[in-house]
Amino acid sequence: MVPARIDPSTLGGAIVSTLNQPRVAQLLTRLYDEAAATDERVGPRVAAAVAAGNGVFDDQAAAALLDEAFMAVAPEVGRLLYLLVRTRRPALVVEFGTSLGLSAIHLAAALRDNGHGRLVTTELNPQKAERAAAHLRTAGLDDLVEVRQGDAFTTLAGLGDIDLLLLDGWKALYLPLLQKLEPALAPGCLVIGDDTRQFPALLAPYLAYVRDPSHGYTSSALPLDDGLELSIR
Ligand SMILES: C[S@@+](CC[C@H](N)C(=O)[O-])C[C@H]1O[C@@H](n2cnc3c(N)ncnc32)[C@H](O)[C@@H]1O
Repeated sequence: MVPARIDPSTLGGAIVSTLNQPRVAQLLTRLYDEAAATDERVGPRVAAAVAAGNGVFDDQAAAALLDEAFMAVAPEVGRLLYLLVRTRRPALVVEFGTSLGLSAIHLAAALRDNGHGRLVTTELNPQKAERAAAHLRTAGLDDLVEVRQGDAFTTLAGLGDIDLLLLDGWKALYLPLLQKLEPALAPGCLVIGDDTRQFPALLAPYLAYVRDPSHGYTSSALPLDDGLELSIR
């Protein structure tokens, strides 16, 4: 008897999410292993830079210092991003802070499984932007993602109808960038701010803003990993 060919997109007839496809799952495992080793090595430099800048970490020099660090969302946060994109079904997702593309892979995997939508993600550091683009190609998701290298305040200008916005760049920039992008947010846009428990002082103005209903948001804190703020506008 000829054995039945197994479709790699299914396991025993069940449809498997793109996140669990071998090509993507193996890449994520490899990148999270690399991230653990790299960030452990770079960690002390980061702590010293934060201390030297009184906790402020918002310029090109900081990005250059952290050129090797992944600083990626934790795997459980990545899966939450996947779920949010699957349920919100956005036409346009925008990410501030690509780094090496771990969050972008999760977002793009959900777009693939939704069958529509695209991701625009932006990264200040050119080497990181290039590496992220290469990772997205390895994952087979590059057709859904545009990696824009440069400062988010420039690279994201001109976008419109953003359905989901992930803020994961330097923390002091969340609020000014959100305010700049507000005219481009589609009604019901889901705004996700990452690292809220890791940088409570830097993110206090941002959190106060999205938690004030007069600004048009309904917002809730999620104590997952380094903390997230989910806000709908
Ligand atoms: C925390 S990491 C992003 C991690 C990524 N979202 C992930 O989960 O894999 C933050 C990144 O934001 C980038 N960044 C900081 N300020 C930026 C700016 N003004 N424009 C674009 N990228 C910026 C940094 O270079 C850094 O790589």
